[in-house]
Amino acid sequence: MCGIFAVVNDKSNQAAQTTLIGLKKLEYRGYDSWGIALIPEKRKKIKVEKHIGKIGQAETKLPNGNIAIGHTRWATHGGVTDRNAHPHLDCKKEIAVIHNGIVENYKVIKSNLSNKGHVFKSETDTEVIAHLIEEKSKKVPIIKAVFDTFNSLVGSNAIVVLDTNTETVLACRNGSPLVAGIGNNQFFLGSDVPAFLKFTNRVHFLHDGEAVVLSKKGVKLYDLKSGNEKMLNAQILDWKMEDAEKGGYQHFLLKEIVEQKNTIPKTAKINKPALKTISEKIRNGYKIVMSACGTAYYCTLAAKYFFAQLGIESETYGSYEYLPFTKFANKKTVFISVSQSGETADTLIAARAAKKQGAYIVAVVNARGSTLERLADSTLSVGAGPEIAVVSTKAFTAQLSTLYLLAHYAINKPEKGISKIYQLGKSLEKWINTKLFTQITKLAATLINNEDLYLIGKHLNYPASLEFALKIKESSYIHSEAFAAGELKHGVITLIQKGTPCFVLSSNDEAKDEVLSSAAELKARGGKIIGISPVKSAEFDFHIKTLDLGDLTFFPNVIVGQLLGYYLGIGRGTDPDKPRNLAKSVTVK
Ligand code: G6P
Repeated sequence: MCGIFAVVNDKSNQAAQTTLIGLKKLEYRGYDSWGIALIPEKRKKIKVEKHIGKIGQAETKLPNGNIAIGHTRWATHGGVTDRNAHPHLDCKKEIAVIHNGIVENYKVIKSNLSNKGHVFKSETDTEVIAHLIEEKSKKVPIIKAVFDTFNSLVGSNAIVVLDTNTETVLACRNGSPLVAGIGNNQFFLGSDVPAFLKFTNRVHFLHDGEAVVLSKKGVKLYDLKSGNEKMLNAQILDWKMEDAEKGGYQHFLLKEIVEQKNTIPKTAKINKPALKTISEKIRNGYKIVMSACGTAYYCTLAAKYFFAQLGIESETYGSYEYLPFTKFANKKTVFISVSQSGETADTLIAARAAKKQGAYIVAVVNARGSTLERLADSTLSVGAGPEIAVVSTKAFTAQLSTLYLLAHYAINKPEKGISKIYQLGKSLEKWINTKLFTQITKLAATLINNEDLYLIGKHLNYPASLEFALKIKESSYIHSEAFAAGELKHGVITLIQKGTPCFVLSSNDEAKDEVLSSAAELKARGGKIIGISPVKSAEFDFHIKTLDLGDLTFFPNVIVGQLLGYYLGIGRGTDPDKPRNLAKSVTVK
């Protein structure tokens, strides 16, 4: 939710342009509007540029300067207007603030400041921060004014402050992500590493309660409560610049879908000690409870079937619905929290609640240095690399293959799981090719004007259908709804009319015949049957042949949905990397 970028001592002396490059990498976090604040060369007054809409091909006319901050917004308080876009300034235009989060007590602060004569230009909660810093800095140095202001804010927040007088950028974190980049005599801040990966891979992920001050001399780390300086141990990430580039693809979404042939088998190489530790607990009778949101939640639903087929009982909850069930977690619970970003507010709330009950928390995450990782007892880092498209694909499949491996570790057959995941990688390598793209493009062309699609699947193909439908909704805005095949006769069938597109997801498994009977029932009501399956069937009006890989057929079946969503989105003129109204990381409840 919202993207933050800052640069200090920009080598090119074009800090606004550098900020724009960074913001374009963060646009997936919010794209209602964007803005940059810069200290121009030889001038004390901050210059600001703000626009509504996506950054896309935008350019900035801001003058030269080597220090700037910038923001992409996903609106919470105040409509999408130039005025409400960040950065926000104090009365004297000497302090600029950008912000990710919600200041829950902003109304009280605003009215106190208004009484003292401060004039507000926007409807945002963020603007109060700039004025409160201004007020406090009348009596104390800027660093203390910023820390005291931040400590008085209620809610999960990250702020970045540009101060003209000291020519510094000060940033504080409590609950919203922030990472500092330590380059070669130039220094950065971002909500996420891809923002500055072009310039440096030397980073420090800020923890809650930490602050950094960036000046020409470097980056200093502080503890927010005491105000004391702390030792900064930067780490070097193995991410490369190419990871945050499109690499010849038109969109990140397509690049990331194709990357799955590498990211899935990579999961079999990593996490071995952690998989061993967690699986021992499962063997020792710990109960598995999983929790996640969105795509990651569907990952846990699929994992539940994988665990069950190996004789392991597990439960899963959408994190936003977990609280009534928290009381059942205890010291013998392995609580598996799945998240691409590791920053989703509801996912964190559920994990913290389970931790309070004494549960052993496992984070299955893709992003690095996340809040979830820090609160977990053990982390399965799924290693898919930066996922830039808002629609999650490679993180989802890497999370699921990691849980597939965990299930095999838990029954003491890690080698079997590992070899099946390697085999899956090899099969995907051959199958994801131009022939598949052409077939799916053709299918997309026949569906482009439909506003409703239905999907059915049974057992593992039920969560596969849910995830397939989600990809179509997110990428193309077509209403697509998935049902367990068994639910069909209990009301759903009324929705089927002549020509209604009905996807039937199946594998070569025990559920196949039953799903095909359901397909026949749909066809008898006029449904146009689109089979996603390794095996052709007479019921199908259109067939996309997937891979016959037993339980792992789940993966190619879902990949068809990812690709179809992508091509439908292109055909309908959406931006597949940045669907309307969505944010990559939902850091508010
Ligand atoms: C948002 C994103 C989804 C994602 C969900 C959970 O809704 O748009 O793509 O699945 O958050 O995010 P997480 O980072 O926890 O996996």
